[in-house]
Amino acid sequence: MPTDLPATADAPPNGPALYRPVERPTAPQERRGEASPIAVIKALKQQRKAVILAHNYQTPEIYHGVADIVGDSLALARRAAETEAEVIVMAGVHFMAETAKLLNPDKTVLIPDPRAGCSLAASITGADVRLLREAYPGVPVVTYVNTSAEVKAESDICCTSGNAVEVVESLGSDRVIFLPDEYLANYVARQTKVRIIGWHGRCEVHEQFTPDDIARHREAFQGLKVIAHPECPPEVLDAADFVGSTAQMIGYVKDRRPGRVLLLTECSMSDNVAAEVTDVEFVRPCNLCPHMKRITLENIEQALLTLEPRVEVPAAVAARARRAVERMLEIG
Ligand code: 13P
Ligand code: SF4
Repeated sequence: MPTDLPATADAPPNGPALYRPVERPTAPQERRGEASPIAVIKALKQQRKAVILAHNYQTPEIYHGVADIVGDSLALARRAAETEAEVIVMAGVHFMAETAKLLNPDKTVLIPDPRAGCSLAASITGADVRLLREAYPGVPVVTYVNTSAEVKAESDICCTSGNAVEVVESLGSDRVIFLPDEYLANYVARQTKVRIIGWHGRCEVHEQFTPDDIARHREAFQGLKVIAHPECPPEVLDAADFVGSTAQMIGYVKDRRPGRVLLLTECSMSDNVAAEVTDVEFVRPCNLCPHMKRITLENIEQALLTLEPRVEVPAAVAARARRAVERMLEIG
């Protein structure tokens, strides 16, 4: 059992009752008997001066129970750049933790399960980007943040689904290499005059949605509004009422209050928004991201207790990858 909690740690301000579970390292089963995992994590967070960043796809007990900051990939990157916490726990996938580390090279960044990958990040390597640069000399490279630091390091600038068109147009080039999501590239190409050169990466969650899903649900649920993430196939986006990043999808539901809504994205997001927006009916075909679902209260607690697993990025890669992320953040 790890025992590296500081012996002289102060009790958190919300009192001894909450502090008791973590004042001495105990077995998880023993802690379970004394306090809920959420209470233990909250106490550990204070002790470690840690912040938990959670993506919109995390389960409700993480999203509503222990996260300090929730959001889409862009918001998480922005807030990671601003935090004064000493330790960042990324309740999300590995590339998100890497991005947080790039922006906070001197802080401890933890990913509760390092196996939390992403089919998009796995679809391309740094060597692939170098080959594309050779094939299209002088054409700038925009990479979706859903990539490894190694790929970001080969790029001119990063983007997220929330700012992709703006980033592409910021470059002042008539052609852009846009990596690695084929469907996001297609979505961007439809909204700009810039010629987009894409790659064949896909999100294994969003590629499963079909126009038939939408037609069936519209038939079964009168007045249904369908909103989709741009990682979905183009024919799905065509059949949707609104397309946007996860934060933009949440904004649509909160602002417009459709009577019934179908969010074509990872299905924990509907649970998270439904808990806040109780006057909207959420219709839920459930596609789970197996990578996002690797993060649990148990491994968040363990990460805070042991300060492992840490995310590290080799210095030579980090400097170049950071430049691409910071360039994105400089665009409003
Ligand atoms: P956003 O939250 O940036 O829209 O990204 C969706 C996603 O699939 C992240 O893995
Ligand atoms: Fe990657 Fe898709 Fe999972 Fe997001 S939902 S982490 S894009 S596999």
